[in-house]
Amino acid sequence: VTAEKGGYEHFMLKEIHEQPKAIRDTLAGRIKEGIVDLSQEISLTAEELNGIDRIHFVACGTAYHAGLIGKAVVERLARIPVEVDVASEYRYRNPIITPSTLVVVVSQSGETADTLAALREAQKAGAKVLGITNVVGSSVAREADEVLMTWAGPEIAVASTKAYTSQLIAIYLFGLYLARIRGTRSEAQLKEATEELLRLPEKVDNALSDADTIKQFAEQIKNHDNLFFIGRGLDHAVVMEGSLKLKEISYIHSEAYAAGELKHGTLALIEEGIPVIALATQQDIFDKMVSNIIEVKARGAHVLGLAQDGDTELTKSVDEVFTIPQTLPLFTPVVAVIPLQLLAYYTSVARGLNVDKPRNLAKSVTVE
Ligand code: G6P
Repeated sequence: VTAEKGGYEHFMLKEIHEQPKAIRDTLAGRIKEGIVDLSQEISLTAEELNGIDRIHFVACGTAYHAGLIGKAVVERLARIPVEVDVASEYRYRNPIITPSTLVVVVSQSGETADTLAALREAQKAGAKVLGITNVVGSSVAREADEVLMTWAGPEIAVASTKAYTSQLIAIYLFGLYLARIRGTRSEAQLKEATEELLRLPEKVDNALSDADTIKQFAEQIKNHDNLFFIGRGLDHAVVMEGSLKLKEISYIHSEAYAAGELKHGTLALIEEGIPVIALATQQDIFDKMVSNIIEVKARGAHVLGLAQDGDTELTKSVDEVFTIPQTLPLFTPVVAVIPLQLLAYYTSVARGLNVDKPRNLAKSVTVE
């Protein structure tokens, strides 16, 4: 049985380690002369792309968390207003969809019932739909007006890992392509970002190489009933994914919080010894994040800080630290999610649970 798992004990660990390849495969053929070019795959003309006045990302679960990053990417690179919804809410809130809205549905399987219903609803309202999916020939691949495949290969473990990082890559490619067509970024900026995209597989590989620190932290949290993940900006979206991963396969309750919002209520739950995982990769709000860490430390939290290589500041305020390679602020989620995936994995293993097939969950949810 370990043969089909490529020598790994579980599919999830195998898939975690396949991420450098999944990223490389998702980038392949989409960069020409150092710049992102999706014109072979996306048939929308420059005029149509220029005419988009709002974008909605719609998805479920982990794919929804990729959509949250999508909002930051598209708004920052292409300056188009973006909303993000979970598909089961989107359909019922009477969203404002016009023919100049682009709806981006993100779905690993391409078969999630709520996501498909949202896709159809958007098309009925006259919007164009771009599907980001991992399965060739899936319903999303067939029904969306435009398709951007992720090339993560088959994902077997219920907890999604390589599909998520590949979705992020597809989103970066799309954001950079939009920025190029709409002229919101200079050629030099586009080239710099594209070069950095190409370095991500190696950086992910590097983040994967220090699993021992994470394994030890998993041992420390495995008997806790509650814990917190905190972050700001993009880090908030990443810790939401980290928290979901941990809940899915370790059954430990955790909450992901925008660190600046803690003091408006949740701080009351911080007591002696509670584990807090704090992600601090965003330089523009780094000092604010450190103050938030000090707030939880002062109430007795045991903090694992996730910082970028070269950090000297965060290290001083946390109990343990894990560092990840530096990259552009928009790209940090791809690298920062790695230790969080490993933490969920090792905690599940330490608790003796069924890592690849957690209770109550399905890989693809085809009922609404
Ligand atoms: C299920 C899976 C999740 C996944 C979600 C959306 O709940 O367990 O891992 O994120 O569906 O799936 P999709 O295939 O649409 O990305």
